[in-house]
Amino acid sequence: MTVRRLLVFGRSGQLATALGRLADPAIWDIALVDRTMVDFSEPRQALSALRQQPDFDVAINAVACNDVDGAETDARDAQTVNCETPGLLAEHCAATGRPFLHVSTDFVFRGRPGGGYVETDTPHPLNAYGRSKLAGERRVLDAGTRHAVFRTAWVYSADRRNFVTAMLDLVGRQERVRVVADQIGNPTFADDLALALLKAAGVLDRSEAKGGLFHLAGTGQTSRSALAERVFELAAPLLGNGPAVEPITSDDWPTPAVRPTDASLRSDSFATTFSHQMPHWETSLPTAVHAWCRNALSARAKP
Ligand SMILES: NC(=O)c1ccc[n+]([C@@H]2O[C@H](COP(=O)([O-])OP(=O)(O)OC[C@H]3O[C@@H](n4cnc5c(N)ncnc54)[C@H](OP(=O)(O)O)[C@@H]3O)[C@@H](O)[C@H]2O)c1
Repeated sequence: MTVRRLLVFGRSGQLATALGRLADPAIWDIALVDRTMVDFSEPRQALSALRQQPDFDVAINAVACNDVDGAETDARDAQTVNCETPGLLAEHCAATGRPFLHVSTDFVFRGRPGGGYVETDTPHPLNAYGRSKLAGERRVLDAGTRHAVFRTAWVYSADRRNFVTAMLDLVGRQERVRVVADQIGNPTFADDLALALLKAAGVLDRSEAKGGLFHLAGTGQTSRSALAERVFELAAPLLGNGPAVEPITSDDWPTPAVRPTDASLRSDSFATTFSHQMPHWETSLPTAVHAWCRNALSARAKP
């Protein structure tokens, strides 16, 4: 089998980093494209920059404007980065016969008791970020039948700022931390997401394959406060006890953007279509927590 060229938009983000590390060189020749090469805030320039990229077979878009609260005051940039530019790039990929894999979010849903959203459920975003991501999904899917959109949730890794590493940063610094208990979601390890997308990319690379919309998040769901407690339990043998978690409600922690309560996703359709089951969030969390702790300990040991 010849090695296929995979173009990834994004370089230093959680997903892009994991894709760069995990893509099997026997299958993929991967090129990671950062914002100095393709700036998603400038749709026309991004398109001409893409036209100048060396030939590629499949594209994965790991770029996003993920500033959920910031999007409430700068909805324009979120709309450009999350919708307009992906739409243009996806149209170019369709016109040149390449599949475009795009990543979206559970925040396209308003949340409901029990969550468990599937792809046929009607989206209803509560905030500007969610609206920009929903518009982006539609632009990408309208652009080509081999394109696919993957909605994920609560992405974490050991190397970038995210909820898990933000909690770990508090160990040894705070005695208590207040964490919302009424927001439920699927913690998703960036490595698991990357491996699943690489599997999907291999399938969609076949010319007869059809894309579509898929949910793709860690199996199982939990609350923010329970996740924080689990992170501290896992870190304790390495770093000592973390802060005591005080569960609060979203009303106790007002933010510019309203967040869904339980927008947890079911990824069964992805598992069936691509023969790939996402690991349970509790299985993957120790890998990221322990890697972060080891890095922190070796940084502390340096003179
Ligand atoms: N993180 C989550 O909890 C979460 C939840 C649901 C869905 N998702 C979705 O999952 C996907 C991957 O997320 P992630 O966690 O890997 O995101 P991330 O770590 O925040 O990375 C986002 C990437 O986008 C790049 N970027 C932002 N604005 C750009 C611009 N104008 N031009 C070019 N590049 C730009 C960033 O570049 P710089 O490093 O240069 O800033 C970064 O590489 C995204 O589609 C996101 O919406 C994430």
